[in-house]
Amino acid sequence: MRKKITIIGAGNVGATAAHWAMTRELGDVVLMDVMEGIPQGKGLDLLQSGPVDGFSYSIVGSNDYRDTANSDVVIIAAGLARKPGMSRDDLLAKNVAIVKSCTEEAVKHSPNCVLIVVTNPIDAMVYTAFKASGFPKERVVGMAGVLDSARYRTFLAEALQVSPKDIIAMVMGVHGDNMLPLVRLASVAGVPITDLLSADKIAEIVKRTQHGGIEIVNHLKTGSAFYTPGLCAVEMAEAILKDTKRVLPCAAYLEGEFDISGCFIGVPVVLGANGVERIIEFQLTAEEKVALAESEVVVRKQMADTGL
Ligand code: 2OP
Repeated sequence: MRKKITIIGAGNVGATAAHWAMTRELGDVVLMDVMEGIPQGKGLDLLQSGPVDGFSYSIVGSNDYRDTANSDVVIIAAGLARKPGMSRDDLLAKNVAIVKSCTEEAVKHSPNCVLIVVTNPIDAMVYTAFKASGFPKERVVGMAGVLDSARYRTFLAEALQVSPKDIIAMVMGVHGDNMLPLVRLASVAGVPITDLLSADKIAEIVKRTQHGGIEIVNHLKTGSAFYTPGLCAVEMAEAILKDTKRVLPCAAYLEGEFDISGCFIGVPVVLGANGVERIIEFQLTAEEKVALAESEVVVRKQMADTGL
């Protein structure tokens, strides 16, 4: 049976996610947007890359949620993006309304899907989708940690002059300035980075990771990152569609794990056919606990601001 992926939002992130999903041959893709013509045009353009790239699945652009029916995974990337001077929180009110209505429509037609939320501020938007869908917590997950960890790994690889593939490193917590790039657990093929880089260099990389999104916004001026955010959402979708049980840092709903309950926050999870199949809980140091608690404060404020 062919898998079906709906991507809601045919802007930069959504269209790029569609591109990655096609090149990775994850299944048939529906690119949804309220803007007439945009998803159709981008979908057709992507479809025509099939003979050259050699993929066998289809992609269609649509403004009609009926075309999304029976999707296995729905990626929500609809909403406004950041401009210079805007925090992710500035987007909150506008994007709550968008994510709520997209979720309601999507789940009406795909009641068994797993929802992956990418819209910012991610930790609040994944909560919005959770509330609006009525889905069990396992089937609603936010993309944040994969992107932040990719940035962290990139900067570490640059500093160490090694392939980024060999950097094992994870970012937990909120997708914002209070995110927690874990230093103690970061390694190059198992060798701790603390043995290879000075404390000052590591601190610089941690800070750059925490501000990785705004660094790109400041370059682009008219929007935010999209190549890697799109890819990270697809990386999560692939783990779900192929039931690979990948361990990826994602915004998952916690019920006591890491001493946090009742909110979505970035933690390592096992992703498989059922969505978030397990949260990998481990002992944090006192310092890491404080940092995660700071993330939790930010997430709870965002959740309160959603009014849900
Ligand atoms: C980023 O960090 C868009 O929040 C996203 O680039």
